[in-house]
Amino acid sequence: MKHRLAAPPVLALVAGLVAAAAALRAQTAAPTPGPTPAHAAAAAEAPKCGDCHTDLVKAFAANPHTRAFLGKGTVDPNDACGNCHGDGTKHMEAGGDASLIHAFKGLSGSEDCLSCHQNTPGPHDSFQNGPHANSAAVNCLTCHSIHNAAPKSEHLVAKPPVELCGSCHRNEAASFRAKPYVHRLDRGGMSCVDCHAPHARRGEPVKMTVQGELPCLDCHAEKRGPFVFQHVVGSGGTCLSCHESHGSNNPNMLQWAQVSQLCLSCHSQTPPPKTYGSQPPSFHDVRSPRYRNCTTCHVAVHGSNVSPQLLK
Ligand code: HEC
Ligand code: HEC
Ligand code: HEC
Ligand code: HEC
Ligand code: HEC
Ligand code: HEC
Ligand code: HEC
Ligand code: HEC
Ligand code: HEC
Ligand code: HEC
Repeated sequence: MKHRLAAPPVLALVAGLVAAAAALRAQTAAPTPGPTPAHAAAAAEAPKCGDCHTDLVKAFAANPHTRAFLGKGTVDPNDACGNCHGDGTKHMEAGGDASLIHAFKGLSGSEDCLSCHQNTPGPHDSFQNGPHANSAAVNCLTCHSIHNAAPKSEHLVAKPPVELCGSCHRNEAASFRAKPYVHRLDRGGMSCVDCHAPHARRGEPVKMTVQGELPCLDCHAEKRGPFVFQHVVGSGGTCLSCHESHGSNNPNMLQWAQVSQLCLSCHSQTPPPKTYGSQPPSFHDVRSPRYRNCTTCHVAVHGSNVSPQLLK
């Protein structure tokens, strides 16, 4: 990571994304116009950002950008500022003239951050066209407070995730607060980002597991099976065929108030509605209370290894 120190100032980088990416790739070989540890030491008398922005620079010592640019050992956060703000010499000579420093004013996209982050492996290659990237309304700085100090603010997020996401997605956040049958969020519970990747590509709203399954299975692995006699999951359906993701008025977060309604939405006794799987046998008289609660007999509703009728 040490070579990041020699990265050209960001002002040069933003001249073009392509050029920036190339420059970054080539930076180990490229001539090094930026400050180096040796240079910084030689110029010890020179003014530093921290002479005036004292608190900010102090806090920045714990920022992942300081750690990343400077590596372990050398920890003068002053040396990290230029990686984003460019050469600050003129700004300092003028006693802090705000017009002489790149200040990210009116960022309409995520260009400044992408010059480094677009090539990070993982979901970040979606930064340019995901629903959360690169527009005036939603860009890196809507969600990240870049000067925050870790670990106070994990991943430099501007607010705790639920609050952050809820500031725009009010309906979903309200659902978690208002519905009686729901995952507990915050305070030791889960958060929006357990199920969603904030940087996902458009049309991929849910964070899938490495096996390509819904995130539900990260925590409820026992519902996956594999079962000898599968039910819905594993044969074309998912957890969401029966459950609501953001909470429900129905026990067990089911999509229907009565379990029988849920089951009969697929196993209808009254054609024509299209049925999936077999219909319940005719002895199941659903008008009789005895047959209304299907899961008193079909207890293995998530799949069974012993009963094809999911009876145990
Ligand atoms: C001599 C004191 C001094 C030094 C040294 C200094 N600054 Fe500043 N800086 C200021 C003052 C004063 C302001 C203006 C504050 C205002 O107008 O609200 C400022 C403003 C800024 C701004 C905001 C500009 C804007 O448009 O709002 C940035 C970014 C900044 N400085 C970065 C740096 C960086 C990076 C360094 C080190 C390379 C640095 N400063 C060194 C005094 C200084
Ligand atoms: C990873 C990129 C990055 C690094 C490194 C960085 N900054 Fe910033 N800085 C920003 C961004 C982005 C903003 C605009 C924040 C906003 O508008 O939300 C900003 C804003 C500022 C401002 C004006 C607003 C404020 O918070 O007061 C000052 C002053 C400033 N930076 C100084 C510094 C100093 C000093 C350093 C080195 C210790 C530094 N920055 C390191 C990205 C960076
Ligand atoms: C000069 C290259 C560079 C620039 C410009 C830059 N970053 Fe970074 N950033 C890094 C590196 C390197 C790391 C540390 C390695 C990592 O965690 O990926 C990092 C770390 C981060 C992290 C924390 C990762 C974690 O796991 O805690 C966030 C969030 C982040 N950057 C966001 C931004 C945003 C937003 C901007 C634009 C204002 C930006 N960065 C600009 C290089 C850069
Ligand atoms: C909609 C809000 C949002 C936007 C927009 C956003 N982020 Fe994030 N970012 C988050 C949250 C929340 C996390 C923490 C995720 C977690 O805890 O799993 C995060 C984590 C990160 C991380 C560290 C974890 C990782 O995925 O590697 C980096 C680096 C990062 N963001 C960079 C960026 C950059 C660069 C941009 C702009 C292109 C950006 N983010 C835009 C919300 C956002
Ligand atoms: C600044 C506002 C803002 C914040 C904060 C925000 N979002 Fe979004 N989100 C949007 C916008 C705008 C869209 C795109 C809507 C569209 O195009 O239909 C979106 C889309 C989404 C989608 C649908 C994605 C798709 O591919 O269809 C999900 C899921 C989502 N956001 C989750 C989150 C989560 C989780 C967080 C917190 C980490 C979050 N959002 C924070 C504004 C925001
Ligand atoms: C238990 C996992 C889980 C949690 C926690 C969760 N979601 Fe979702 N979310 C999903 C699933 C699965 C979908 C897609 C299927 C659906 O609509 O139910 C979804 C869909 C969405 C969509 C709509 C995407 C679209 O294309 O219409 C948004 C927006 C969203 N979630 C935001 C949030 C926010 C904000 C939070 C936190 C307050 C949150 N989610 C918490 C699982 C979750
Ligand atoms: C991060 C772990 C995690 C993820 C991901 C997760 N759950 Fe849960 N789930 C829990 C925990 C813990 C409980 C116990 C209730 C609580 O404390 O929130 C629970 C409870 C439940 C319940 C019982 C609720 C009740 O009313 O008793 C259902 C049903 C459920 N989860 C379904 C799902 C579905 C469907 C998904 C995917 C959309 C999912 N879960 C994703 C952890 C998780
Ligand atoms: C065919 C409909 C259906 C599907 C598909 C389904 N469930 Fe369920 N689930 C139910 C019903 C019905 C109950 C309530 C059981 C009862 O009444 O005894 C339940 C209860 C639960 C519970 C709480 C009680 C317990 O057994 O722990 C969890 C957690 C749960 N489901 C998770 C999941 C997950 C995760 C998936 C996806 C892998 C999933 N479900 C798929 C119908 C379904
Ligand atoms: C989303 C549609 C759907 C829902 C809802 C549903 N099932 Fe099924 N069920 C199926 C399908 C499809 C099969 C065939 C096996 C497979 O492919 O999973 C099946 C198979 C069965 C079987 C095994 C006998 C057979 O036909 O092979 C029983 C018993 C059963 N379901 C009972 C229930 C009960 C009880 C409920 C309510 C808790 C329920 N089902 C909800 C779609 C559904
Ligand atoms: C009193 C216990 C009981 C209740 C309640 C019950 N079932 Fe059954 N169900 C059975 C038994 C026993 C079988 C196996 C019959 C056989 O093997 O001939 C069965 C078989 C089935 C089958 C498989 C038919 C086939 O072709 O193999 C389906 C589907 C089914 N039930 C759905 C339901 C639904 C939907 C409900 C709720 C409306 C329900 N059952 C309520 C006991 C029950």
